[in-house]
Amino acid sequence: MKKILVTGGLGYIGSHTVVELQNSGFEVLIIDNLSNSTLDALQGITNITSVAPAFEKLDLRVKADVSDFFKRHQDIAGIIHFAASKAVGESIEKPLLYYENNVSTLVYLLQECNIHKINNFIFSSSCTVYGEPDAVPITESAPIKTAMSPYGNTKQICEEIISDTCAVSDVRSILLRYFNPIGAHHTAELGELPSGVPQNLVPFITQTAAGLREQLRVFGNDYPTPDGSNIRDYIHVVDLAKAHVISLKRLLSEENASDLEVFNIGTGRGSSVLEVIHAFEKVTDQKLNYKIVERRAGDVVSVYADTVKANNVLGWSAQKTMEEALASSWKWEKKVRNIT
Ligand code: NAD
Ligand code: UD1
Repeated sequence: MKKILVTGGLGYIGSHTVVELQNSGFEVLIIDNLSNSTLDALQGITNITSVAPAFEKLDLRVKADVSDFFKRHQDIAGIIHFAASKAVGESIEKPLLYYENNVSTLVYLLQECNIHKINNFIFSSSCTVYGEPDAVPITESAPIKTAMSPYGNTKQICEEIISDTCAVSDVRSILLRYFNPIGAHHTAELGELPSGVPQNLVPFITQTAAGLREQLRVFGNDYPTPDGSNIRDYIHVVDLAKAHVISLKRLLSEENASDLEVFNIGTGRGSSVLEVIHAFEKVTDQKLNYKIVERRAGDVVSVYADTVKANNVLGWSAQKTMEEALASSWKWEKKVRNIT
């Protein structure tokens, strides 16, 4: 059984990925500092898979602790690196926090990869690296645009750091550029639990439906799209999690075509904000309180993935619908809020 290190493995995407890894027979070791997660996720993973993954509370910013960790674990076959800070607005307020937490931690991990000959590395990137695209759907060869936030910039810098490292070492990496992850595990044992007021659309929708928020604001209906609201590619988190397992197997079996590969992980389908709201209303059979307000600064008009490369080269495609994702998000929200 190959041992895989999952950093940020108690977070939203990491915890779902640990489930899929364990279901595929991998032994998982999780590092997380619990800065944006709780031990409930560990219990959730254990409840779903009947296997408790190994877990160490560790802050990847502490280089000495990272070094000590790898000295104690010499048998790691691959790393999936989720741990990072991800709030775009906060990154504008606290850029250095983002550069330290997202960039320094990557450097420390890659240094350990070189020391301990851990050659398989999967990285959480984002479609944010494309900025406002010239054309949709976006292929992986689309140009990287100037980042709109320090968060987005960290993803670009991290991609470059990994690329430079792969060029001169034995490390082989797959960069997965996620589009908009939504949804929860169908058991409602795992899901997204943003701290404070949600910035992302779907958690705001479910919290509004649950009565925690009075009203959802739709940021603009005057964009050049069919209904005037922004278009995004909403990908079910379980489909996204499975893309990591497939990528890992690709690296472990040395099927990768080059030392650095990049894949878009989305559905290939664009949905507008209003379409998401109406799908949520249909799936949950209730009206959502929302109003149209002015545009949000920094929003791109329309972004969705060209998934041909992920489909044909990686052999992965999204299986779940947006409706399934929204239903699972609502089930999770109800469980968390004790709504029957
Ligand atoms: P998350 O915040 O739920 O998970 C990240 C986890 O990393 C958390 O459990 C947090 O406690 C942990 N962590 C943060 N800093 C750490 C540190 N210094 N040491 C140890 N643990 C640390 O976020 P997520 O949504 O699961 O995102 C995972 C990754 O995917 C991130 O790199 C994020 O930037 C990227 N990503 C997310 C989205 C999205 O919409 N959720 C989209 C594109 C890319
Ligand atoms: C945002 C980040 C992106 C990050 C992604 C996932 C920005 C500019 N981009 O993407 O870097 O990778 O989150 O974490 O912040 N919306 C509303 N009302 C709301 C919330 C959102 O109308 O209360 C709309 C937005 O205008 C957007 C869509 O819903 O059109 C999706 O928004 P969001 O979930 O925040 O994701 P992105 O903006 O695509």
